[in-house]
Formats: sequence, C-alpha cells, structure tokens
Amino acid sequence: MARIAYVNGRYVAHRKAAVHVEDRGYQFADGVYEVIAVRAGRFIDAEPHLDRLDRSLGALRIATPMSRSALYHILHEVMYRNRIENGIVYLQVTRGVARRDHPFPAKAKTALVVTGSRKSPLDSRILETGVNAISVLDNRWKHCNIKSISLLPNVLAKQAAREADAYEAVFVDEEGFVTEGSSTNVWIVTSGGELLTRELDHGILAGVTRETVSKLAEHLRLAFAERRFTLEEARGAREAFVTSATSCVTPVVRIDEAIIGNGEPGSTARALFEAYARYMEGGDAAA
Ligand code: PDD
Repeated sequence: MARIAYVNGRYVAHRKAAVHVEDRGYQFADGVYEVIAVRAGRFIDAEPHLDRLDRSLGALRIATPMSRSALYHILHEVMYRNRIENGIVYLQVTRGVARRDHPFPAKAKTALVVTGSRKSPLDSRILETGVNAISVLDNRWKHCNIKSISLLPNVLAKQAAREADAYEAVFVDEEGFVTEGSSTNVWIVTSGGELLTRELDHGILAGVTRETVSKLAEHLRLAFAERRFTLEEARGAREAFVTSATSCVTPVVRIDEAIIGNGEPGSTARALFEAYARYMEGGDAAA
C-alpha cells in the first residue's frame, strides 16, 4: 500500500512528498515537532502532545498553523489513509518558506507536514532481556524543554549508542547529573527503592509518556520523586528504564560497562510496562 503524507494543505504520495529548499526547517532547523503513538487505531495522549506543540511554537514565536480541530482532522486522515492500526504519526511545524536570512521573516506562512508509519506495538518480550545504554556528555543547547527539530546532538548520541550495541544514549550534564536520553526520559529505582526521574527544567523535554507513567506510579503507590540523580547513582541503581511515545517503558539493564541491578528488567519497570500497556489499551478519550 502506498504511503500518504500531508504537506502544506495536500495529501501526496509519501515518496513524492517534498518541502521547498528554503523552508526554514531545512535551512535553520527553525521548527518543532511531535510524535504521537497510535495503538489499536487510537492516538495515545494526543491532547498533551498538542499542548506541548503549542508551548514549543509559543517559545519560538511561530504562528500556530491551524485550529486544534483542523489539526485533529489531518492527524486522523493521515492515520486512516495509511491504515495505521499500530504505529506513529509525526508532525513537523516550521516557520515556513522565506529567502534565507537569519531573522524571523516578516511574512512567512507556517508550514505543516504530517506523516505516519506503521510499527508493531512494543513487545513484552523486552521484559525478558531489557536493553543497554551508554552515557554521553550533554552538549545540547540550553532549551531542551522545547521540542525543537535541532536534533544533531541527539542524532550523534543515538549513533554512538548504536555503534556501542546499545539502545539508548543517556545525556549527562557537566555536573554529572543525568538529564535525559537522546529520544527518551530516564528513570531509576535507587538502591533504597525510590523511583526517580529528573524534575522538569530546561535540561529535559517534558515527556508526555513521563507524565502518564508518573500518574501510573502514583496509582501503583510506588515511592516516587522528581529529582535529579547522577550517572553514578544510575549505574548503582537497582533498576533503570526509559520512556517515550515510541519506547513506552523500556527497561535498561546496562549503562556503559555497569550492570544495573542483577542485569535483568526489574519489578518496577515490569509493573509500569504492564500498567502502561493497559493504559494504551484504554486509548485516548480526547482524540
Ligand atoms: N522523542 N526526550 C527527548 C529528547 C525526546 O526526543 C523524547 C521523545 C522524549 C519523550 O517524550 P514523549 O514521552 O512525549 O514521547 C524525551 C520522540 C518519540 C522522537 O523524537 O521520536
């Protein structure tokens, strides 16, 4: 089946979908994005993803491309036209097309691209093995809370992970604190049994999955706190895992050469994986 993309008002064959060479996304990474998971034909957490899109656009002063209801219509069309039962929709919004010049152009029309892809849902076999991670210096810019498409440091970090046979790269700031993964938020269970993820600040993206998993942790009455932790604490942790719209809850069993816990996914990651899987089966009331 031919894939279909939405590009600035038109639904086009994915293999022919293109934007102008002077799109400011292409020239300057002057744009923002969202990735929303689709499970059993329904969006997961679409509203908070679109709330974050509004915050990211506001932070860069890019005009919103259209009303939320119009955007939902396009998201659903892309899902249906690509027959996505399980997968993702990706949306990218840029400041638009203008002659290349650094300042914001006076008259550019916000550009919107929406694509979709199929992917089988996260397999619970991940709970048998977990994944490996490596640590890298967090040399990204200081506004990681904006879901900006300037992802070069993230790309280089993820590639370093791949080359080290690891699933994820964990960013560590100059003071030795873990910020987040190259495309995930990072969690640990300390040797004292406390579930931790870094508090929200400019050093991390406010993950929608992070927020949902925090609520699930509260429901499960886990001892949970939002505070920063060092790479050393993570390496000595009882458990570690990462979350995102595409990774859901993925247990990490090794960071660099350090084996986490007993080297197998732990009970907290398992419980949250199961709780998140159940949450996804319930779908998203707002969408
Ligand atoms: N990335 N941190 C970073 C740097 C991310 O890129 C992401 C998501 C997250 C988790 O956010 P959420 O739970 O809202 O997906 C944290 C998406 C999935 C991506 O770039 O493909």
